[in-house]
Amino acid sequence: MDRSSERHTDGDRAARLPEEVAAGNTAQAEAWNGDDGEYWVRQRAHQEARYRRLTPRLMAAAGIRADSRVLDIGCGSGGTSLEAARAAAEGAVLGVDLSGPMLAEARKQAATAGLPQATFAQGDAQVHDFGAAAFDAVLSRFGVMFFADPEAAFRNIAHALRPGGRLAFLCWRDLAQNAYLTVPFEALAPYVQPPDFGAPGEPGPFSLADTARIRTLLEGAGFDGISVDAVDEPMWMGTDEDDAVASLTDTPMVRKMLAAADEEARAGALAALRHTMAAHRGPDGVTLGSASWLVTARRR
Ligand SMILES: C[S@@+](CC[C@H](N)C(=O)[O-])C[C@H]1O[C@@H](n2cnc3c(N)ncnc32)[C@H](O)[C@@H]1O
Repeated sequence: MDRSSERHTDGDRAARLPEEVAAGNTAQAEAWNGDDGEYWVRQRAHQEARYRRLTPRLMAAAGIRADSRVLDIGCGSGGTSLEAARAAAEGAVLGVDLSGPMLAEARKQAATAGLPQATFAQGDAQVHDFGAAAFDAVLSRFGVMFFADPEAAFRNIAHALRPGGRLAFLCWRDLAQNAYLTVPFEALAPYVQPPDFGAPGEPGPFSLADTARIRTLLEGAGFDGISVDAVDEPMWMGTDEDDAVASLTDTPMVRKMLAAADEEARAGALAALRHTMAAHRGPDGVTLGSASWLVTARRR
């Protein structure tokens, strides 16, 4: 078998990693520079539509002014960086992310939108040198739950903020409260192996579900005025059941689950998923509940 194309692909992915990545964050860097990052680029517009009820809540909490210097942690394809740049028309926004492909997309979006005040850097926010007190505001939309050493990461983020500067981020509450995940996975469960979201507290989407942990981390990193508010907003899943199924089955996690099943199980899984999505279709398309924390704090 000719494996040269495989070697070529691996080489490309290694070349895409940031120069400095904390040892514990290498697996995340590889994932976000591989299938996960490519999926997020492909589905950028869909993801933005998914978050359309959540993003305004974050932006309102971030307190960005026309001249603010803003840091967007785990900015991905730049959706919130562009929003921040619109608010900071005379300021500057830096989006930082592990993912080369997602940052390439973010740069493209910023150029198309005519927002040169938004710039992007590839780096690991846990260790990246942002400079001391270089920002007035730090925000993140679901980009702060993946650190191997969250204590070090939030200290590094605090160091980048000026005293009195504001931190605002969204992170997920427990999986069980997030119907946008439990409902599709319950439909798939009779046919395929369940997904693995990692152990509680481990780096992953639900690592900051515990509010006591959030407070401990932020107090230890040098923040006060910490507030943690529940946000319960519908998550838009697609224009109709076919669009929702197409988007869900494009995620690397569901693709792997379906690929491991035999043909009959796969057909059953897809039919069950479509049936469930149709049951949640309303005038705005398919929607399911989501549960996140909106966290705000001030740098001491
Ligand atoms: C769930 S995605 C959210 C992306 C983006 N904030 C959005 O809302 O579209 C999580 C993002 O965090 C980034 N990320 C994870 N760990 C990171 C780290 N240590 N440093 C910088 N970015 C990180 C990933 O590369 C990914 O783009």
